[in-house]
Amino acid sequence: MSDEKDILILAIESSCDETAAAVVKNGRTVLSNVISSQIELHKLYGGVVPEIASRKHIEKINQVIGEALSDAGVTLDDLDAVGVTYGPGLVGALLVGVAEAKAISWAKKLPLVGVHHIEGHVSANYIENPDLEPPFLCLIVSGGHTHLVIVKDYGEFEILGKTRDDAAGEAFDKVARAIGLGYPGGPKIDKLSREGNPDAIPFPKAKLEDGPYDFSFSGVKSAVLNHINRCRMQGEPICEADIAASFQKSVVETLVEKAVAAAKAYGMDRLAIAGGVASNSTLRQAMERACEAEHIRFYHPSPIFCTDNAAMIGVAAYYEYRKGTRHGLDLNAVPNLKLGER
Ligand code: KG4
Ligand code: ZN
Repeated sequence: MSDEKDILILAIESSCDETAAAVVKNGRTVLSNVISSQIELHKLYGGVVPEIASRKHIEKINQVIGEALSDAGVTLDDLDAVGVTYGPGLVGALLVGVAEAKAISWAKKLPLVGVHHIEGHVSANYIENPDLEPPFLCLIVSGGHTHLVIVKDYGEFEILGKTRDDAAGEAFDKVARAIGLGYPGGPKIDKLSREGNPDAIPFPKAKLEDGPYDFSFSGVKSAVLNHINRCRMQGEPICEADIAASFQKSVVETLVEKAVAAAKAYGMDRLAIAGGVASNSTLRQAMERACEAEHIRFYHPSPIFCTDNAAMIGVAAYYEYRKGTRHGLDLNAVPNLKLGER
């Protein structure tokens, strides 16, 4: 890399409820990572309200980009490209980032690189693990996705399995709401579980004979709701911490078992995790232990790079840029963009 010119990418992420911008150098060095979270606003409603998210992105985006540039000590004139999440996500939210990226690309005559949000999550693993290069196995667990994939090359995925109903994060959020923890549920269940007994309630783990690497979390979610209803009807006390810990145990064991089985079946000696749920402390510990036992090297981003951020989009944009991916000013938001689609 020494005699090559540095490649500086400004990345923008606005697919859900974080307005984020980052400057990334040569795909792996994060010069700045600014995240403006709307969680406090959406908490009032128990979940993300799309119209409010779009409006807040519009209010915040210029400020967030300005901060990302100044934190990195660069100006728009120093950049080599603009990367932006164009799907999947909330259409109105995505459009704010896409329109902003197109405006900067046009005004500064910079190449525009549209990025798949999930490709971004996977790429978060490259930031702190300089030795990690494809191929490797990756478990993607976010609010909208649960995918087990082989990362064959940068931005190239073979999907081994995915969820047939709820995503892992969605299940965390729904169970958290049922036990009165509020939004977003994942981090709250993670915390409350430390006070509970994971063996208190035997919640089920879905077995899918016809898709060993597929997932289903609607069963465990319904089991939690049934447990709460039964306790209420029989006048028994409800222990939220035990419910949280037992639910989390069921989900974590399923994720670890399937990911490790896939790694063994496909001869993968490296396994990474990605997405908001990848910041779950029990999942990280369980994955670490299981990988160690099977001599698999385990990779995970720091929690700040697991949940939505623009640094991960800058990393993915860099590898897309290197491959020659360029989007025109007709780039549109694609709310249901599939992984591997361009
Ligand atoms: O990747 P992400 O920030 O956004 C999407 O692309 O969906 O993931 C958000 C999801 C939410 O469902 C949130 O509850 C979950 O990740 N999450 C967690 C934790 N932190 C965030 N789930 C379990 N444990 C956590 N510590
Ligand atoms: Zn995400």
